Amino acid sequence: MISQNQNVIQSDSLLSSPSSKAIDADSYFKKNTPPSNLNEITAKSAEFIATNTKLGRPVVLVTSGGTTVPLENNTVRFVDNFSAGTRGAISAEFFLKSGYSVIFLHRKHSLQPFNRKYATPELGFLDFLFISQEGTVKIKPQYEESLIHDIALFNDIISQNRLYMPTFITLSDYLFSLREITNLLNPLGPNAFFYLAAAVSDFFIPADKMVEHKIQSSEGELSLTMNQVPKFLKPLVNSWAPNSFVVSFKLETDPNLLEAKARLSLEKYGHQAVVANILHTRKNVVWIIKRDSMDKAEEIRLSDEEIKNHVEIEQYIIKKLIKIHNSFIQNSKSSS
Ligand code: PMT
Repeated sequence: MISQNQNVIQSDSLLSSPSSKAIDADSYFKKNTPPSNLNEITAKSAEFIATNTKLGRPVVLVTSGGTTVPLENNTVRFVDNFSAGTRGAISAEFFLKSGYSVIFLHRKHSLQPFNRKYATPELGFLDFLFISQEGTVKIKPQYEESLIHDIALFNDIISQNRLYMPTFITLSDYLFSLREITNLLNPLGPNAFFYLAAAVSDFFIPADKMVEHKIQSSEGELSLTMNQVPKFLKPLVNSWAPNSFVVSFKLETDPNLLEAKARLSLEKYGHQAVVANILHTRKNVVWIIKRDSMDKAEEIRLSDEEIKNHVEIEQYIIKKLIKIHNSFIQNSKSSS
């Protein structure tokens, strides 16, 4: 709900109280508009999954980056989520290096696997190049080795059709695409791996409650009441892909809440594992909690030496999760 001093826009569902009950996932999809490229994402994902499974390759869906929540139907302003997509982009690289094919559902303009190294806050594309005496563009010698390595790897992956990178911007783009891709992965059963690292908004303004045009500052201060977004992990785990391997993330800023909330999430949704992290230490330490041994949280922590050498924690997270995925596949086979 958006209200301004003189111009109060309210809805029955929102009037009850700010903590009014979240709608369910089905109602969310009925009330919101799918992204205009949803058919294209569905068709390309279907083709990608078919090609890769025919070749016996495991497929993982990696979600990455933050969702936006628009404040106006003709959107000028929106509420954003902090994530740059670092976790997702690095994780996708390690999945690819481990033989997985990756659907990388990411926030448009957030970090992408491999390319992320060549557009950092410190270094842009042009910083890697210089003009030689002959007037041709060359790579600066200090970057040559890593660029040649990454270009070769990236080209190999693309030519083998092992990476598909659909994008989203808003929460609703993300959720519609997530549902479509999940439905397509569902027939793979335990072989399908969901790695849900995107930072997903818990609050939104339903399309029919938003103002049509730009909110006018001339009308005074702005108050916002937002609806709760249903937790999509619930239908994903229970009906969209009930036999697949699902790993969610739990992000908190208060360390005292983290473990309990990660466990609660496993209890509530019944998926296989949660990777728990704290905002300010997320690059150096995470805890993996599995459903089949919920009382113990396995810590992955970089040493001071590793931090100094820019080791990326995702390599350990992915190694560990792939091991758990493999035993999940074995257990599913032996119990069927
Ligand atoms: O991109 P970086 O800067 O590297 O940061 C990485 C990260 C901190 C974003 C990542 O490691 C992370 O923790 N991602 C999950 C953030 C998040 O949405 O946490 P949450 O505690 O709000 O949600 C927990 C889980 O519920 C998530 O897996 C999410 O997919 C799911 N969810 C969230 C909202 C919602 N309405 N429905 C959901 O199902």
